[in-house]
Amino acid sequence: MNVIVRGRARPFRTVEFDARKNAVLLIEQRLLPHRFEQVATRTHRDTARAITDMIVRGAGAIGATAAYGLAQGAREFRGNNLDRFQLHIAAVYETLKEARPTAVDPINAMNDVLRAMRAGKTVREQQDLAVTAARSFADEDVEHCRAIGLHGAPLITEGMRVLTHCNAGWLAFVDTGTATAPLYAAQAQGRSFHVFCDETRPRCQGASLTAWELSQQGISHDIIADNAAGFLMQRGEIDLVIVGSDRVLGRTGEVANKIGTYTKAVLAHRHKIPFYVAIPESTIDWNLKSGRDIPIEERSGDEVLGAWGVVERQRANGKREKETERVYVRIANPTSTARNPGFDVTPPELITGIITPQGIVRPKELRRLRPIGS
Ligand code: MRU
Repeated sequence: MNVIVRGRARPFRTVEFDARKNAVLLIEQRLLPHRFEQVATRTHRDTARAITDMIVRGAGAIGATAAYGLAQGAREFRGNNLDRFQLHIAAVYETLKEARPTAVDPINAMNDVLRAMRAGKTVREQQDLAVTAARSFADEDVEHCRAIGLHGAPLITEGMRVLTHCNAGWLAFVDTGTATAPLYAAQAQGRSFHVFCDETRPRCQGASLTAWELSQQGISHDIIADNAAGFLMQRGEIDLVIVGSDRVLGRTGEVANKIGTYTKAVLAHRHKIPFYVAIPESTIDWNLKSGRDIPIEERSGDEVLGAWGVVERQRANGKREKETERVYVRIANPTSTARNPGFDVTPPELITGIITPQGIVRPKELRRLRPIGS
């Protein structure tokens, strides 16, 4: 998507790969919306840390980052002993897999890369195949998000008021996003509508990232407190809900997404408001049999007990532009502890439809999309 940098619109992808430097290039999402910056991770360990620390976040974006991280790790190997190379690759895979547990996209993305590497007969061939496969995953992610946009756009009619939760926008993927794709497509088709962004405590991806994306795109929106959606629904001010997902169970239609999604689905059901989930196929887990088995990330209590923001300071060297510094402020009672589950699971009966690159299906019909052999 285009980002206005120093007054000029330039296209960026959330995740890119610089093969010459063997570096993964990431938009530093923790600084948005205050500062736009790309950072380079130069080893697969740094790439894994960037996922854990949420420099990059969002299911598809961490999927592409893990795919590139695996290729990057493959190219860190020196020598031509294939057995030792396989051991090295297994360790790189585990490091990247453990970076964040809930989203299945990193696993699906890295499995794609591993499958492609098998065709190589030498270490060098496998290294090259890994880069090509990671690039294909990223390119397909872009295409799939665009297709989701085309299938989802008819849901958005003129003047509609749409609620979204967290950020399933282009920052959560390589480009375009999932929950935002129908919005961007409807805008391109000339329709006007309004978006409510849940602020999405504790990390506020809605207030900081989705709101930033929508303002870059010139889409009318308001940020609302997470607790405000019920009131707006009761007053008839929300017509449609679209969210993304970090893992959808292909066998059951259960949807894991950012904490608070389940609450919104219950509210939407109560008020008979259509509730859609937009996903690429890399977000589908064909193995797990129950939502109870989805590993739900428990993050640090500090995220609940306080909040991060940015302060601007005058530069010490007297230069005109200010420097921004990310700071943490404690909000909660100093002696209290917190629970911080990062995701919840919404059952299929609360979901009107799943918007996929192949079209809109009911959660229970997802099985129809199952690729042969998976
Ligand atoms: O913790 P995050 O920001 O990585 O959470 C992931 C998400 O952005 C949301 O759950 C999103 O709705 C689905 S990811 C496309």
